[in-house]
Amino acid sequence: MGLRRSLAMLVLVLLLYFDSLPYVKAQSSATNGSSRALDTLLQDYAYRALVRPVTGNVYDGTVPSNLTGIKIAALRLRSGSLRRRGVNKYKEFRIPKGLLATPYVIRLVLVYQNLGNWSSTYYQTQLPNYTFLAPVLGLLAYNGTDLSATNLQELNLTVSGNPISIKFEGASPVPDGAVARCVLFDLQGSFNFSNITEGNTCSASQQGHFSIVTESIGPSPSPAPSPVQAPSEKAEKKSNRKVWITVGSVLGGLAFLVLLSLLVLWVQKFKQKKKRQQMEREADVGEALHMAPVGDTKAPAASGTRTQPTLEHEYAP
Ligand SMILES: *[C@@H]1O[C@H](CO)[C@@H](O)[C@H](O)[C@H]1NC(C)=O
Ligand SMILES: *[C@@H]1O[C@H](CO)[C@@H](O)[C@H](O)[C@H]1NC(C)=O
Ligand SMILES: *[C@@H]1O[C@H](CO)[C@@H](O)[C@H](O)[C@H]1NC(C)=O
Ligand SMILES: *[C@@H]1O[C@H](CO)[C@@H](O)[C@H](O)[C@H]1NC(C)=O
Ligand SMILES: *[C@@H]1O[C@H](CO)[C@@H](O)[C@H](O)[C@H]1NC(C)=O
Ligand SMILES: *[C@@H]1O[C@H](CO)[C@@H](O)[C@H](O)[C@H]1NC(C)=O
Ligand SMILES: *[C@@H]1O[C@H](CO)[C@@H](O)[C@H](O)[C@H]1NC(C)=O
Ligand SMILES: *[C@@H]1O[C@H](CO)[C@@H](O)[C@H](O)[C@H]1NC(C)=O
Repeated sequence: MGLRRSLAMLVLVLLLYFDSLPYVKAQSSATNGSSRALDTLLQDYAYRALVRPVTGNVYDGTVPSNLTGIKIAALRLRSGSLRRRGVNKYKEFRIPKGLLATPYVIRLVLVYQNLGNWSSTYYQTQLPNYTFLAPVLGLLAYNGTDLSATNLQELNLTVSGNPISIKFEGASPVPDGAVARCVLFDLQGSFNFSNITEGNTCSASQQGHFSIVTESIGPSPSPAPSPVQAPSEKAEKKSNRKVWITVGSVLGGLAFLVLLSLLVLWVQKFKQKKKRQQMEREADVGEALHMAPVGDTKAPAASGTRTQPTLEHEYAP
């Protein structure tokens, strides 16, 4: 009885575990929401670089090891100084005077992100038919009063004068016949294209993520293998193999446990059968009744030989 219940429990636990696998997979694939979760994480890690920061100095941050390849930095400023003077050079960004942050805060922190080889992981889903020629760069502003704050909401940046310019260094060359364009991803999940100006420079009038893309020139007549996969094929294959290894080992483990359970169940049944046979034999013998375990087992044994055991029981100590 107890054994069967615990087997049922085991199967239930395994089913639950098995059921949770797709979620593990979903988390590792890129979605709109995951880029925002990344922003939150990177805000936290960029702020950690601000230990007694000097206003106006750029501090490079360190990302957790599961995100190696991403570069971050933080720059703390007074809102007033940002508006009056701008920032001449902050990595690839040049911020002219006139930048406004709303709602108003006395001090703000500009968090810089360079997603490096993670760019397509986090932003390809939003632009399936484009290839990134440069890493995705982010410029996000946060309340800079409390430097240990996490889960901060971004401030809105708007330019009142000249736009922010972003000079992409080492962008991949544009493929023959293709046109490269600047792209802006805003924080609400939409994007916008603009023209590139001289020297791989894009301009921006708000906060967000920026890159240079070109329309993928996939094998257009074939509709089945969409060009979406081209840039991230390697990563996909790698993660596919990981998923298969996981699924394979889980299935193997599951099969093993099922076999083990069957074996245990079979052994238990065999034992019970043997025990019952023995009990029957003992009941037949009659004399040996008081040797059988006390308690409930007496009842079935007694039913077979109704008169004798009750008498004998009276003798018993
Ligand atoms: C990376 O690691 C950090 C800290 O260990 C964790 O909070 C975060 O969820 C992880 N992110 C990803 C994308 O795995
Ligand atoms: C990016 O490169 C780093 C090593 O420089 C590596 O650890 C990481 O897995 C790469 N990320 C992706 C998404 O390929
Ligand atoms: C991408 O291209 C395919 C075919 O070229 C088209 O069917 C699809 O709608 C495009 N997707 C987007 C988001 O533009
Ligand atoms: C900025 O943070 C400080 C300290 O946490 C808080 O007092 C202030 O209200 C915040 N400002 C805004 C506009 O959220
Ligand atoms: C920033 O602007 C967006 C839309 O432009 C708006 O939805 C959001 O509420 C604004 N955020 C703040 C903190 O003002
Ligand atoms: C991203 O999320 C926003 C809302 O959070 C939604 O409006 C937008 O359509 C989403 N974009 C994509 C490409 O899923
Ligand atoms: C895209 O850019 C154009 C031109 O600058 C602008 O009119 C439009 O509002 C922008 N759209 C979004 C979603 O940012
Ligand atoms: C981009 O440049 C093309 C020509 O090179 C021009 O026709 C188009 O209007 C420009 N778009 C914007 C938003 O400036």
